[in-house]
Amino acid sequence: METARIEEVISDFLTLRRAGANLTTLCPFHHEKTPSFSVSPVRNTFKCFGCGKGGNAAKFLMEHEGYSFPEALRWLAKKYNIEILETKPTPEQLAAHQEEESLFILNDFALKFFQNQLPGAGLDYLKNRGFTDATIQEFGLGFAPDSWDALTKAATQAGFKLEQLQKLGLTTSSGKDFFRNRVIFPIHNLSGKVIAFAGRSIPNLPNSTNLTNSPKYLNSPESPIYHKSQTLYGIHHARKSIRQQDECILVEGYTDLIALHQAGIENVVASAGTALTTEQLLLIRRFTPNLHILYDGDLAGIAAAMRGLDLALELDLNVKVTPLPHPDDPDSFLRRLGIAAFTEYLATSAKDFITFKASILLTDVANDPVKKATAVHSIVDSIARVADPIKRSFFIKECASFTGLSEAILTAETNKAVLALPLPSATFLGVRDKPGVNSPLEPVPTGREVGGVENHLVYLLLEHGADILDPKENITVAEHILAHTYEVLEHFEDPRCQRICRESIELVLAKKTVNAGHFIAHEDLDLSSFVSSLMHKEDAPVAPNWEQASSSTKTDGGPSCTEDITKTILQLRLKALSQLCEQNLMRIRNTPPDDEQALARLLKVHEKLITARRELAESLGLVRF
Ligand code: GTP
Ligand code: MN
Repeated sequence: METARIEEVISDFLTLRRAGANLTTLCPFHHEKTPSFSVSPVRNTFKCFGCGKGGNAAKFLMEHEGYSFPEALRWLAKKYNIEILETKPTPEQLAAHQEEESLFILNDFALKFFQNQLPGAGLDYLKNRGFTDATIQEFGLGFAPDSWDALTKAATQAGFKLEQLQKLGLTTSSGKDFFRNRVIFPIHNLSGKVIAFAGRSIPNLPNSTNLTNSPKYLNSPESPIYHKSQTLYGIHHARKSIRQQDECILVEGYTDLIALHQAGIENVVASAGTALTTEQLLLIRRFTPNLHILYDGDLAGIAAAMRGLDLALELDLNVKVTPLPHPDDPDSFLRRLGIAAFTEYLATSAKDFITFKASILLTDVANDPVKKATAVHSIVDSIARVADPIKRSFFIKECASFTGLSEAILTAETNKAVLALPLPSATFLGVRDKPGVNSPLEPVPTGREVGGVENHLVYLLLEHGADILDPKENITVAEHILAHTYEVLEHFEDPRCQRICRESIELVLAKKTVNAGHFIAHEDLDLSSFVSSLMHKEDAPVAPNWEQASSSTKTDGGPSCTEDITKTILQLRLKALSQLCEQNLMRIRNTPPDDEQALARLLKVHEKLITARRELAESLGLVRF
């Protein structure tokens, strides 16, 4: 874990940008439009202030790639050329393996089975379509023979259970092979594991097991390892190129994607004929904000592009659309034009979404005011989904020039459309001040707003705890802080801060170092997450002199840090005193007026508390009573 640099690991998946001492990007784990995902090279941890996820490199891999802890370690070991010794699993261990693991193993078996069956009808078909051996190999293409049970038999003979085959949809409920006489396209998840298959029918032989009118493509049904709405075909093969090109091309078909890939355009994913989902677009946005939709020029293709477009706009993706001339699809168009002309066409014919939508909706409606109005409303409705007001105003300008309407009218209409959007969209657009509108996507307040002083104290404790505060007395910052706060710990509002201080006292007593690492590695994950969040947040240079202050205090707990510590301790004591005052006043109020003795005592306490509080406040330089 020491060798694994968090920024290097995360850079394999996300594009990080520098932000002071940290690196930042849009969080891959929740939907957001401004980055709250922070990576700290110094602490070797990541943290999202939006959704709260955080931890070390292994934790990132577990969250992002869905790895188990051992899988994450294996991945890291491979990346850093560290050898790990593993024992081969026994048959019993294998049997006890999680359901998911066994389903992946079965899919691998099926993959090999289909690949082995390829020579013959399947290979002829693919070769005919112009796919090379290398491409066929790379995408793991295979063939399901024209048989009722070839795969089911082979798999059960190899020891797989019928129940598992059915769970993956490879075998139907009546025990027959699901894919028959079809070319097989394995579908991979982000990390390259086979999670499902698609099968394309090829011209039927006489007496075929397939009905003549059976669908062109069949897809594995949903399973514990395959969730259609979260999957994009080709993402595993495309991820690297998408990040390099900083653009993702979206096509509809399996064969479109493979054809483009073979021609050297690798930053492509396929929606596989279904309407795009938010999850799929978020998956793309992990790698790039730039989406280039490349759809068939027929009506269905255009309709699909339009739907994908509004959704993508809401997720703050920059959308370009290239419509292809009817009746081509990307595969046939590429074959017709060749790669050079194809690339040229993409570069010159790509339209931003307004131009695309306008070119389709405004064609042939010039003389029909009603139709024209409908078209404009539809365009305005799309513009309303763009969160960035600057982008929005550019689109409005463009729309004005297309339609001849004034920008003022279009702006007014857009604003109306923004308000009419369903709630989640309105929230994305920053319309979130309405009472009762509390989007779960909003960042959870951490840091100074809530219990800010307590958090800051814990930050100082964990950041500087091991530093020597006063060389003469050889006292550490941790000892100093804890000695001056332990009596007010019970007044802490945040139980986590309280717990960290209490456990730090134990560390000090055991002569152990108090630092953030100890708590980030804490077995209580809430505590660990809290600390990594806190340390990241405080690392951001809040005060102008903060960088200087923290660097000068690394070794000797220099003057600004000492001042900060003193001030924070005083603030906490002041808070505790105020609480005591309140409690005492309550007691005074609840004392019967004739119990003069009790009252006199309480009033004396009150006076003492008030005096102490004033003195403290004065020393803090913020007298305000
Ligand atoms: P080819 O005809 O092999 O070139 O495929 P294509 O990708 O050009 O097919 P098409 O444009 O008709 O469809 C685009 C995508 O929609 C396909 O790649 C499939 O993912 C999906 N699709 C098409 N037809 C069907 C079908 O009958 N059933 C299902 N489930 N999906 C289909
Ligand atoms: Mn096609």
